[in-house]
Amino acid sequence: MGRRLYIETFGCQMNVLDTQLVLGQLRAQGYQVVDTPDDADIVLYNTCSVREHAEQKVWSRLGELRATKQQRPNLVIGVIGCMAEREGTGLFRRYPHVNILCGPAELDKLPAMLHNAVVTSAKPSDTDHVSHSGRRRQVALMASTTRRSSTLAATDDHLENLDLSRSVSSTDDVSQAYVRITRGCNKFCTYCVVPYTRGPEVHRPPQNIIDEVIKLADAGAREVTLLGQTVNHYAYRHPDARVTSFADLLYRIHEATPALPRLRFVTSFPRDFTDAALQAMRDCPRICHYLHIPAQSGSDRILKLMNRGYTARQYLDLIDRAKSMMPDISLATDFIVGFPTETEDDHRRSMDLLRYCRFKNSFIFKYSPRPGTIAIDRFEDDVPEPDKRRRNNELLAVQQEVSAENNRQMIGKRVEVIIEGESKLTSRQAKADPSFVDLTIAGNKPAHPHLSPTVTQLIARTRGDQIVCVDGGPFLKGQLLRVQITDSQSLTLFGKLIAD
Ligand code: SAH
Ligand code: SF4
Ligand code: F3S
Repeated sequence: MGRRLYIETFGCQMNVLDTQLVLGQLRAQGYQVVDTPDDADIVLYNTCSVREHAEQKVWSRLGELRATKQQRPNLVIGVIGCMAEREGTGLFRRYPHVNILCGPAELDKLPAMLHNAVVTSAKPSDTDHVSHSGRRRQVALMASTTRRSSTLAATDDHLENLDLSRSVSSTDDVSQAYVRITRGCNKFCTYCVVPYTRGPEVHRPPQNIIDEVIKLADAGAREVTLLGQTVNHYAYRHPDARVTSFADLLYRIHEATPALPRLRFVTSFPRDFTDAALQAMRDCPRICHYLHIPAQSGSDRILKLMNRGYTARQYLDLIDRAKSMMPDISLATDFIVGFPTETEDDHRRSMDLLRYCRFKNSFIFKYSPRPGTIAIDRFEDDVPEPDKRRRNNELLAVQQEVSAENNRQMIGKRVEVIIEGESKLTSRQAKADPSFVDLTIAGNKPAHPHLSPTVTQLIARTRGDQIVCVDGGPFLKGQLLRVQITDSQSLTLFGKLIAD
């Protein structure tokens, strides 16, 4: 019975965490993780539905596997995550060679489903017509069970078991780890699939979160990022009606993990960000002064059509509050360009908002109409593609100006970074050309006492989430080090390790 498993993950940090948790469970059951689908008995795609482009990648992967499945009929193919939930069993019509469909709110069921799929697919009598009759298919979708109401979800949160199952072994790299504090979303922004794919917002019990962060810190985590779609909405109501707010949770985690150097959280929602939460950030020295807080637009008319629930003025007031409490705060945001009916004037307001807030970076997306959302039913996708592209580029250009200026001000400063790993550019070029010598590295003598003579370009991140390229060795991965910023380009800083 084949148990070699290949998994590819698309989408946001929630999916990255889901993959880690699922793999933890499967490894404990004897599955072995392999690096390519060619070596695998089971291929899983953990998918994202947020924009059409994210889905297209998975469609093409599934198309490629059609021929493989013909040659190896026992191969088990699973689509898990947001796209499984959004597409539902209709996916089998287009891709009959898929065996498993499991939505993100049902992932605790995946080990049993895989077991069933592997056992049935290994039966010698199992021929292709069986697969088409659906016998080998395993389906777990929120939509196919009863769609849970918010209250039901809060009391019957079977998915909590997935997070609780987290096991950390000595071989796991936990230097930068995610911990979920809420799952799902109740906001129903008109363009967004997430409330439909991940279900209603559920807040995890604080003690479970704290225990998980302690477990990771004890295993050597240097940075823990708390995850939620609207992370600052966290408010856990205990059975005795006491409420643990987001600010309370931050204080409690910070106090419980004195050896954890960095605590962060994403994604914040621009409404209901309390002063208490900002104070917690200011008062707890190990909480990073960083907010990813998507604005989406600078136009009140568009924000209203998006159902975001705030005005541009309210957004700016929050940014002002945050900056006045933490002058060193680093801010990131998301924008959608070309939302239905968006005019040049609306677009200009987004650019103005970007300039005012001086974001560290902006994730800019062209509006993508998503099946099942309110916007696709209510509004025509009427901004032509060339205008979307141009507005995307214009916003990006303003962001690059702002980033370049922000980054220039960093030159000469000494900052703490966490080493994330080798720069992709270096490893890609090195692979393509074994004699490759990066000239930016060649002239630099290693400044750090721990450095070996072989120097590679590393990617590191500051407490404010800025990327810094530094020269070092891959063995430094996961370490917290000091660097001096020596140079900057619009989106990247360059630094050298210093030994203080
Ligand atoms: N929960 C987070 C964002 C989750 S989705 C929040 O509300 O801030 C990540 C980003 O994808 C969003 O912030 C939005 O900018 C973008 N996005 C979501 N749906 C989209 C769509 N239909 N078209 C284009 N971008 C979209
Ligand atoms: Fe989507 Fe809005 Fe929820 Fe974010 S807050 S996940 S954009 S519905
Ligand atoms: Fe994508 Fe689902 Fe995350 S739609 S962005 S993987 S919540």
